[in-house]
Amino acid sequence: MFQLNRSIVLFILCFMNIFYIVNIQSIDYQKIEREVDQSPELMKSVENSFLQFLFDKYFIKSSLEDDSMLNVSFDLCVDFIIFKMSAAQLVKPKPHEQWWEQCLGLQVSMLTFSQWLGDINAQSRVAVREHVKNKKYKSILDIPSGLCIDFFGFKHNGVDIDYYVIDITPKLVDYAQSQGINVRCGSIEEIPMRDASVDVCYARHILEHLDYYQKAIFELIRVATKEVIIVFFIKPGEKSDKINYSDCGGYFLYHNYYNQQQLEQYVQTFSQVDEFEWEEVSSNEIILHIYLTTKQNSN
Ligand SMILES: C[S@@+](CC[C@H](N)C(=O)[O-])C[C@H]1O[C@@H](n2cnc3c(N)ncnc32)[C@H](O)[C@@H]1O
Repeated sequence: MFQLNRSIVLFILCFMNIFYIVNIQSIDYQKIEREVDQSPELMKSVENSFLQFLFDKYFIKSSLEDDSMLNVSFDLCVDFIIFKMSAAQLVKPKPHEQWWEQCLGLQVSMLTFSQWLGDINAQSRVAVREHVKNKKYKSILDIPSGLCIDFFGFKHNGVDIDYYVIDITPKLVDYAQSQGINVRCGSIEEIPMRDASVDVCYARHILEHLDYYQKAIFELIRVATKEVIIVFFIKPGEKSDKINYSDCGGYFLYHNYYNQQQLEQYVQTFSQVDEFEWEEVSSNEIILHIYLTTKQNSN
């Protein structure tokens, strides 16, 4: 039923390179290309998945919506690069990124994991849903999604919002898919989405689990247009940064403490940031709201 020959793929790849030069210079496509191409096995699986991806995402959709071929090609180029980025980055996860895949369900049971996360009534989740609803945001990226508890929370509250879901852990991505959720595998430090593509990026209980927060905050601000919401379970404070991790057979689980002033100074280095505020929600949780400039929002 679906016939896509190599010349069409090559044609699209040419478009990719042209659009890469003029439109999406921020992505280091050459590096990604090299990483993917160094592994023939990965390249094969990327090609196969790409064919399926084209079929699912564009050919059915474009015939229904009658997109022009040029627009389809442009979107295709960008999405394929993003898709390849995700694939490339999944090849070499860092030790702390692998902890979840390697230890959840084994050293740490899924029940314990779900108890760490709290259910849809966890105070920070309720506060975030209320806030997003009041702000009338139209789209949200939930990264990392974990067990997709917030996805179900928003559904439960009947909040009408385009919901995007990303997590780095393949077994959690599989779980989300089994729940019928359209989820992507990717890192918060290299989010596989375009600049300014959602109203709000929402990151709960993750910055303390990274080796540091800067790359993630950079990415969250890049992808959001209106606000970045970060929920901390270790409240930033006056003491100096403290990077703590436990080693589980070579896989690291960080529980970092961050200096609040230093974190605020970093947030303020972004031209897109209009203002920020802290919202205390419980004895151990605090929400950082980073509001982005209306200038960017009017684009
Ligand atoms: C403590 S859970 C939080 C999940 C969810 N935000 C919540 O509050 O229910 C941490 C999650 O981060 C994911 N994760 C760890 N490192 C990541 C990274 N670099 N990029 C994206 N997700 C990551 C793990 O797979 C796990 O699902």
